[in-house]
Amino acid sequence: MPSRPPLNLPLRRPTPADYAGITMALDDWWGRHQVPGILSRLWFEHFAGTSWIAHALDGALAGYLVGFVSPGHPADFVIVSVAVAPGLRRHGVGRRLHEGAAADALEHGAARLVEPAWPGDPVAIAFLRAAGFVPEDLPGTRRLYGVPAYPDQEWGREDRAIFVRELAAED
Ligand SMILES: CC(C)(COP(=O)(O)OP(=O)(O)OC[C@H]1O[C@@H](n2cnc3c(N)ncnc32)[C@H](O)[C@@H]1OP(=O)(O)O)[C@@H](O)C(=O)NCCC(=O)NCCS
Repeated sequence: MPSRPPLNLPLRRPTPADYAGITMALDDWWGRHQVPGILSRLWFEHFAGTSWIAHALDGALAGYLVGFVSPGHPADFVIVSVAVAPGLRRHGVGRRLHEGAAADALEHGAARLVEPAWPGDPVAIAFLRAAGFVPEDLPGTRRLYGVPAYPDQEWGREDRAIFVRELAAED
């Protein structure tokens, strides 16, 4: 799909009331890559201050990003899950959600964004590379689908690449 003109859709913080609408959209937004159970309602309750919702001009949900500053690694802002409504892709909504995350990360003293992805998902990988992320290439990774990734990282069967974007003060 070619890129389209950027839509500067409004972003706002999620509330627990958003949870039902997001979970109903997940099958459509994620297709077979949906990770069951990853989006607990707790995220919308306890991580709302570092997460975002994007709305389409008609008020419909356009995308979400759930993130937090790692208590164990305070320099890392972890993006747990992010998706954009299929009909609104390639309009810069994913990029805009990540810019919101970058601003939150810097405000909370983090120095990099960290985002896991399935290495076999070419759209996610293309997006992350375009958004300035590089895959971690540390001991324990293997080239999977051409991307350095940790095999069987989740539930003993799901491969994961860990993408990292270093943040500069001007981000
Ligand atoms: C990945 C995802 C969030 C991208 O959202 P988006 O709003 O379409 O992304 P943007 O419009 O901000 O794209 C930014 C850049 O990423 C790259 N990109 C995005 N989608 C792409 C695609 N399908 N093919 C190739 N490059 C792509 C492009 O370089 C794009 O810039 P351009 O449109 O000016 O060429 C969206 O496709 C999605 O929700 N996928 C399903 C859920 C998912 O995979 N989440 C994990 C994301 S890491």
